[in-house]
Amino acid sequence: MHTHNLFSPIIVAILISTAISKPCYGHVNQQYNVCNQTYSCGSNIHNIRYPFWGDGRPQYCGHPLFQLKCQNTEYPTVIINDRSFQVLGINQSHVMTIASIDLWDSYCTQNLSNITLDGNFFWYSQAVRDLFMLYDCTQNNFTRGLPNNFTCTNMGSDGGKSLGFYADESLLRALLLGNVTKFEGALCRVSVEVPVLRVALDELSSKSLSLQEALNQGFEVVYNAENAACLGCEDSGGICGSDSSSLQFVCHCRDHTYPRNCRGGSRKMRQKLTIGTLPFASS
Ligand SMILES: *[C@@H]1O[C@H](CO)[C@@H](O)[C@H](O)[C@H]1NC(C)=O
Ligand SMILES: *[C@@H]1O[C@H](CO)[C@@H](O)[C@H](O)[C@H]1NC(C)=O
Ligand SMILES: *[C@@H]1O[C@H](CO)[C@@H](O)[C@H](O)[C@H]1NC(C)=O
Ligand SMILES: *[C@@H]1O[C@H](CO)[C@@H](O)[C@H](O)[C@H]1NC(C)=O
Ligand SMILES: *[C@@H]1O[C@H](CO)[C@@H](O)[C@H](O)[C@H]1NC(C)=O
Ligand SMILES: *[C@@H]1O[C@H](CO)[C@@H](O)[C@H](O)[C@H]1NC(C)=O
Ligand SMILES: *[C@@H]1O[C@H](CO)[C@@H](O)[C@H](O)[C@H]1NC(C)=O
Repeated sequence: MHTHNLFSPIIVAILISTAISKPCYGHVNQQYNVCNQTYSCGSNIHNIRYPFWGDGRPQYCGHPLFQLKCQNTEYPTVIINDRSFQVLGINQSHVMTIASIDLWDSYCTQNLSNITLDGNFFWYSQAVRDLFMLYDCTQNNFTRGLPNNFTCTNMGSDGGKSLGFYADESLLRALLLGNVTKFEGALCRVSVEVPVLRVALDELSSKSLSLQEALNQGFEVVYNAENAACLGCEDSGGICGSDSSSLQFVCHCRDHTYPRNCRGGSRKMRQKLTIGTLPFASS
């Protein structure tokens, strides 16, 4: 009697742990449960799913390139081509609004470089335009009195005060009578092209936004990480993810993780279920 009472909870525990550790036996796939938890950070980023992962949402719930890191519980950052961006928004249509961290506090920064996207996964949306930022420009009769100028206190070649200009492509061409190269190269020491939203550019022209505000609205990128494969997986009731070792796309389904979708696996699952329940039925 005593031994029986002692051992039965252990047997139950063993049965439960066996059931949990072997998802093929018709019980729930742990990766499915974990990846059903969405990602949220700050006030703008909520209920984010594949291809995003990070901050406790494991990499197998996303695509390796789409790691988010929540900064001070305020906003997430993402790294594209070794450059860090603040994520301002992500929407259902695979559009992400991001802003370069380097320019966020001030566009008067020594850390200037052109932004290049990874063209295999990210593209500028139709709403994006180039803003030309010209720094440390010569003050002469040509530049004197030009509009769209700004002053940086730390950007001169001597580290001091310097004159800069911003312009969209058409304004720049108009100002220079069609010769952008001359202005950029001969008159200004540094130039960068910054992607901005067309609406922000319009509001900058009408002076309803400052230059810094326009930059901080960020710009939109369209992303594609197995979008089509993911649709197929979700249609079959699965949750998209990637394999931890091969990093290839996978579909996490209730019973098991499959390469493409949950349909191909349904028959296999039933076979495994039958075999798995046999010992219990006969004992
Ligand atoms: C997955 O999450 C949804 C809501 O977020 C919930 O309704 C559903 O029960 C969850 N599924 C599992 C298997 O946890
Ligand atoms: C400058 O940019 C690089 C690459 O984006 C970054 O690693 C570095 O920390 C930045 N430096 C400063 C001072 O912001
Ligand atoms: C996502 O953002 C784009 C660009 O702003 C917009 O055209 C599209 O309608 C948005 N989709 C959803 C589902 O919000
Ligand atoms: C950015 O790109 C433009 C045009 O390709 C080039 O003239 C400029 O020197 C680049 N700026 C930097 C900081 O590399
Ligand atoms: C610049 O403009 C001023 C006044 O318009 C003129 O006196 C001066 O000669 C000009 N300098 C050059 C280098 O053209
Ligand atoms: C800067 O722009 C303002 C307004 O358009 C203009 O009055 C001023 O002369 C410009 N300054 C320089 C140095 O070009
Ligand atoms: C622009 O300037 C460069 C160098 O000053 C010159 O070679 C070129 O012909 C100019 N192009 C136009 C369209 O004026």
